Order: sequence, then C-alpha cells, then structure tokens
Amino acid sequence: MTNYKDLGLVNTREMFAKAIKGGFAVPAYNFNNMEQMQAIIQACVETKSPVILQVSSGARKYANSNLLRNMARGAVEYAHELGYDIPITLHLDHGDTFELCVDCIENGFSSVMIDGSHHSYEDNVALTKKVCDYAHKYDVTVEGELGVLAGVEDDVSAEVSHYTQPGEVEDFVKKTGVDSLAISIGTSHGRTKFTPAQCTLSPDGILIPPPLRFDILEEIEKRIPGFPIVLHGSSSVPIQYVKEIEQYGGHLPNSVGIPEEQLRKAAKSAVCKINIDSDGRLAMTAAIRKVFAVHPEEFDPRKYLGPARDELKKLYMHKNIEVLGSAGQA
Ligand code: G3H
Ligand code: 13P
Ligand code: ZN
Repeated sequence: MTNYKDLGLVNTREMFAKAIKGGFAVPAYNFNNMEQMQAIIQACVETKSPVILQVSSGARKYANSNLLRNMARGAVEYAHELGYDIPITLHLDHGDTFELCVDCIENGFSSVMIDGSHHSYEDNVALTKKVCDYAHKYDVTVEGELGVLAGVEDDVSAEVSHYTQPGEVEDFVKKTGVDSLAISIGTSHGRTKFTPAQCTLSPDGILIPPPLRFDILEEIEKRIPGFPIVLHGSSSVPIQYVKEIEQYGGHLPNSVGIPEEQLRKAAKSAVCKINIDSDGRLAMTAAIRKVFAVHPEEFDPRKYLGPARDELKKLYMHKNIEVLGSAGQA
C-alpha cells in the first residue's frame, strides 16, 4: 500500500474550498505519458496554479500503474525543482468499479471518481457510498456523477445526454458522502460535442454550439449551496488546431467544443473542477503533423514530441490564465 501523502500529493478538499471561495476552477488535465506530464507541470508551476493530474482506466492500462505512481511522485519533485510547490492531486478519471477505486487508492491516488451515472439511481447511490466509505478511511476524496454526458466515457458511450435532475442532488450527496459531484448540463466528451443539426452556422461557416444549461446549474447550486461541482467534457476544440491538423493531412469533420466564455462563466460559480483532455490531444497532434509535413527527413522522436510538448504547455497556460482563472491561486 502506498499512501498518497508519502508521494507529496494532496486530496481535493482544500483545493475545492479555495476554488469556490475564489471563483475559479482547478484544471483536471488527463495524462498518459511523460511529455504530457511535463507540459502540465511546467504550465501549472509557471502560472502558479493547483492541478489535478487525471488518469483514466485506459491510461492506466497504457502506462502501467507502477510507472504512473512514480511519475506522480516525480511530478511533485519536478515542480519543486522548477521553483514552486503547487498542490498536485492524482485522480482516477471515470472509475467504473469499487475494485478499480481500491486498487488506485492502494497505489498512491489521492482522489478517485466513481462513475455510477450509467446505473439506476439506487445502484449509483449504493456504489458511490461503498467507494466513499473505503476512500475516506485513507483521506482520499471521491467524485460521483449524476446525469449522463453524450459521447464516450472510456468504454461506455451514450448517444444523447441526460441532464442532471436538480431534485436528486441533495439526496445523492447526503446518502453517499461524496466530496464533489460531476453534473450534466450540456458538455460532452470528445471533439464532436454536438451534431451539426444541434448547432447554428456562423456567416463564415463555423458551427456554433447550443449554450450550456446554466439554469440547471443554478438550480443545483440552490439545492447544495457551496458544494463542489465538476464539469467533464469541457474541451473547447480550438479551431486553429483542427485547421492545422487538416492542413497537414488529418481529417476531423464536424469538430465542435464548448466556447471558452461559457467555461469562464462556469468557473466563477460552484464549478470548481474542469476536465480537459481532447484539447491536449488536438494540440499534440497538430504539432506532430506539422513537423512530419514540414520536415519529412526528421525521425528523432524528440524532434516531434518536443514541439508537441511546447504546444501543450502553451495551451495549458492559456487555460489556467484565461479560462479557468486558476493562475496565481496555488
Ligand atoms: O473522459 C474520457 C477521457 O478523455 C479519457 O479518455 O479513456 O481514452 O483515456 P481515455
Ligand atoms: P474532453 O473530451 O472534452 O476533453 O473531456 C475530458 C473529460 O471529461 C475527462 O474526464
Ligand atoms: Zn469525463
């Protein structure tokens, strides 16, 4: 058993309390490899932002849990070496079973998500409570989810979203003992968050998505005042990356994300954790495709992973400063 405290990590409790009070959201960035981890830590140290390093079960299979644990320990030491000790959480993204959550808690995670949103309400409550009862013995914080996002969440995919029902949140929080709650108010996973039919078209041919359901968020905040809310599926799918990827041979039709102004508005509310993965994938892919197209003679991985890492860092700094408001809050 490795306790996260021995790795220099923190749980989300204090982070979220500060985020709600300060009107910002803590970034939760997914990572699978060293370059992503370096970019996240460099960006968050330079902007003095707290950060949640987020690992999906797919990432765990890809990267190996022993390596991940030691990468998280390395991240803490790396931030220190860069000159500023930011709070760092290692979080399981979309945990789907009690056993997976236990395994992560035993392997140094300081926070886990148990995503029971695809179960019946009663089963979601029972599963989330079971995880909370176990996790809290080790001072590990737990994120639950109510409502279903459209798109792919690891191996589970849903064609349509089911918004969170505000009438359920108070009972869910009380019965489970959960520390934060992911809700569905119109965000979704991946780079095609809406179908073209759901969007309007701007005069220059850009898809404009429907606005987030801030009315549902407000209703939820009224029922559980001051309780930490989480937004998944919050990539903005920047058009410049999509264009660059397509310019250099990629094909990403119907790409559309959540406009940054809406995320900024959400971050000022009880939303205190915002999940971003797809934008990082786009930034890396754009940078790598460019190197391959412009320098076809290049075959040293550092020559294309290096620029990808630089682009990622730029993206994360922008998110912390301009979108989430987490810069300067560490
Ligand atoms: O919500 C899903 C995250 O973007 C993680 O994606 O399961 O492909 O690692 P993944
Ligand atoms: P995006 O696909 O919008 O980046 O969402 C990531 C996410 O919610 C991870 O849990
Ligand atoms: Zn998610």
